[in-house]
Amino acid sequence: MKITSAEFVVSNSDVAKCPKDQLAEYAFIGRSNVGKSSLINMLMQRKSLAKTSGRPGKTQLINHFIINKEWFLVDLPGYGYARVSKSSKKVFQKFITQYFEKRQQLVLAFVLIDCRHEPQKVDMDFMQWMGENQIPFSIIFTKADKLKPNAITRNVEAYTQKMLETWEEMPQYFITSSSKGIGRDEVLNYIQIINEQL
Ligand code: GTP
Ligand code: MG
Repeated sequence: MKITSAEFVVSNSDVAKCPKDQLAEYAFIGRSNVGKSSLINMLMQRKSLAKTSGRPGKTQLINHFIINKEWFLVDLPGYGYARVSKSSKKVFQKFITQYFEKRQQLVLAFVLIDCRHEPQKVDMDFMQWMGENQIPFSIIFTKADKLKPNAITRNVEAYTQKMLETWEEMPQYFITSSSKGIGRDEVLNYIQIINEQL
């Protein structure tokens, strides 16, 4: 898919205030610091469309971006970040959950997983919750530039085995690096194919 335009639309913490347009929407979710905002910038080939940081907890709101004037990308706050206060963490979780429960325009969520790490309970729990709520998702392994190819393969295989303990099949997944541009065509083509089927 060719990206002809990518523009920030709005940030907010209330799903009821998200854009009313009936456009297909794809959301990026995962642990804080996993690389959600960086991935959006990489896909759009725009350095600072979404705000990124080396410190976890950078994205704190629901951020809508309109792509090719046709569909939305949504950058969300991370989950599983211990350093924000307990009360504000709860608020994040509540509006993130509400976003997924209520946003009818949502076509698919990408759950981002750092390819370096072993399967984490918080991600497993989140995907379980997505499944129970019948919210379609795919997995994106991030930061592939940090590992050698055979280590990536090994970790993805281990991840698949872990998923198969609770899921009938491994969801569609992608391996990406925002710093190297790895996986860009694959993710964008996947979105395009889905958009064409809607
Ligand atoms: P929150 O908004 O805090 O939830 O984080 P996020 O998931 O949006 O992560 P963000 O994109 O801000 O990136 C976090 C850190 O990881 C930054 O220092 C990025 O430069 C780094 N990073 C993101 N993607 C990659 C990648 O593909 N490779 C490498 N080496 N670093 C990455
Ligand atoms: Mg972010």
